[in-house]
Parts: sequence; C-alpha cells; structure tokens
Amino acid sequence: MTDPDRLIAAAREAAAHAHAPYSRFAVGAALLLTDGSIVTGANFENASYGLSLCAETVATATANAAGRLNDIVAVGIVGGRIGHTDTDPIRPCGRCRQVLNEAAQMGGRDLAVHCSGLAGGEIETHRLSDLLPSAFGPANLGIGGHA
Ligand code: THU
Repeated sequence: MTDPDRLIAAAREAAAHAHAPYSRFAVGAALLLTDGSIVTGANFENASYGLSLCAETVATATANAAGRLNDIVAVGIVGGRIGHTDTDPIRPCGRCRQVLNEAAQMGGRDLAVHCSGLAGGEIETHRLSDLLPSAFGPANLGIGGHA
C-alpha cells in the first residue's frame, strides 16, 4: 500500500471516532512520521461550539505529546457528512494549515497533504507550501528547522 493510501485509510478509521454531534460532519487526520508510524486524530466538538477542535489540530497535538512534532512528513485527511456517502476531498481549514505549518517548519520540511472524502473517492495531493503560501511560522522567530 502506498503512503497516501495508508494515510487515507488511517484517517478514515480515525474519523469513525469523531465527536461531531453538532455539525454531523466527521473528519479524520493521519500523520506519517519519519519512521513510518502513523498518528491520528478526529474532530472533537464542544457544546460551546467555538471550542471545537479540528482533526488535523488534534492529530498534530497528539504527535507533539509523543515528542514527534518535528518528525511529521505527510498528512492524510478525510471528511464528510455523517450518514451520507460524501466522496469530495476535504482540504484542511485555514487554521489547520497554520497548525500544520508549525510542524512543517519545526521539522524543516514541507509536508505532503493527501485529501479524500469520508466515504471514498479520489486522493488529491498538495504540498502544504501551496496550501499556505508565504507562511508565517517558527522560522520567522529563528526557531525550528526552517522548511
Ligand atoms: N473540521 C476539521 O476537523 N478539519 C477541517 O480542516 C475542517 C473542519 C471539522 C470542524 C467541525 O467539527 C466540522 O469539521 C465541521 O466544520
């Protein structure tokens, strides 16, 4: 199985654990680390809606908690309406692009971002630097590996 296929499959598994009773929109994210291991996250909503966390943010913080923030090389993201058969690829929201950029610049590498739908569909691949051009990040503060 290719890395994109592995990541999208792991993201789909993670999306099954989305806590999304308000939006009824499940998102899963999977991060590929330098050693081939995968860290996942799902969106985690809150009754105080604005406190909700996106899947990519949860996954990135989980990698950081394992001491692996600098080791992320690629991301897989799926999302779609619960109970539907959505196959349109989900791209990371603006805030999550900035969160992923933190990992990218700390690790000193651009990230591959693979996007697909919750129920299947094509895998669309981007570079994070294309999704968030001219990014502000740790490099501006003289910190990290400076992607
Ligand atoms: N969501 C994510 O988890 N990631 C994104 O990149 C876009 C949106 C979540 C937030 C909310 O729980 C639900 O999808 C609907 O916006």
